[in-house]
Amino acid sequence: MAGLGGSPRILVFAGSIRSGALSQKLADVAAKELALTEADVTKISLADHPLPIYHGDLEAEKGIPENAQKLARLIAAHQGIFIATPEYNNSLPPLLVNAIDWVSRIRESSGVKYRHRVYAIGSTSDGAFGGARALIDLRKLIASGLRGIVVPEKIEVPRAHEAFDEVGEFIAEGSSKLLKALARSLVELAGRLAD
Ligand SMILES: Cc1cc2nc3c(=O)[nH]c(=O)nc-3n(C[C@H](O)[C@H](O)[C@H](O)COP(=O)(O)O)c2cc1C
Repeated sequence: MAGLGGSPRILVFAGSIRSGALSQKLADVAAKELALTEADVTKISLADHPLPIYHGDLEAEKGIPENAQKLARLIAAHQGIFIATPEYNNSLPPLLVNAIDWVSRIRESSGVKYRHRVYAIGSTSDGAFGGARALIDLRKLIASGLRGIVVPEKIEVPRAHEAFDEVGEFIAEGSSKLLKALARSLVELAGRLAD
């Protein structure tokens, strides 16, 4: 409920680092919407946290990469996280899965308390379904890998290549309304974790 918690810090990122990525456009418009609330918003790119593809020998030999530790520390420093993802083969892109897989290997006993954050999720696609199937998997991955709490609201943006105007706002009023509701829900729930 509004007013119960403090001003939450919200981290925003996309599951694509492609130039002109549609999911980045969703992350950008979400960051703008969140900035209109009482939240403090931090936007990052996974391009700034490059990681090798996870495999067990690598972890056994070299430990968890510093960039995964940095991501975990960023998550820990925020009460809420918004993730915008593309859909690959009815599921999630390897960039995003790999980042979450690495973070999930970090034990909280190491002192990085990245679990039990509040998440909101959204997807984009140039197709008709808006990446809806990716979101089903993202919800599971966050719950399992990050022990995160995902708000029930979500946003799927179909035909996303036509969904944004020249300043990056949604053209369709329905999408703006969905995003507003999602942002509200994220800020309210994350606010309960804030000081
Ligand atoms: C390997 C691969 C698989 C894809 N599978 C799907 C899919 O299952 N559903 C869908 O809507 N789009 C699919 N796409 C299209 C992507 O959604 C589209 O390329 C999107 O723009 C990529 O996300 P980005 O713009 O955020 O980089 C796929 C693209 C790639 C490269």
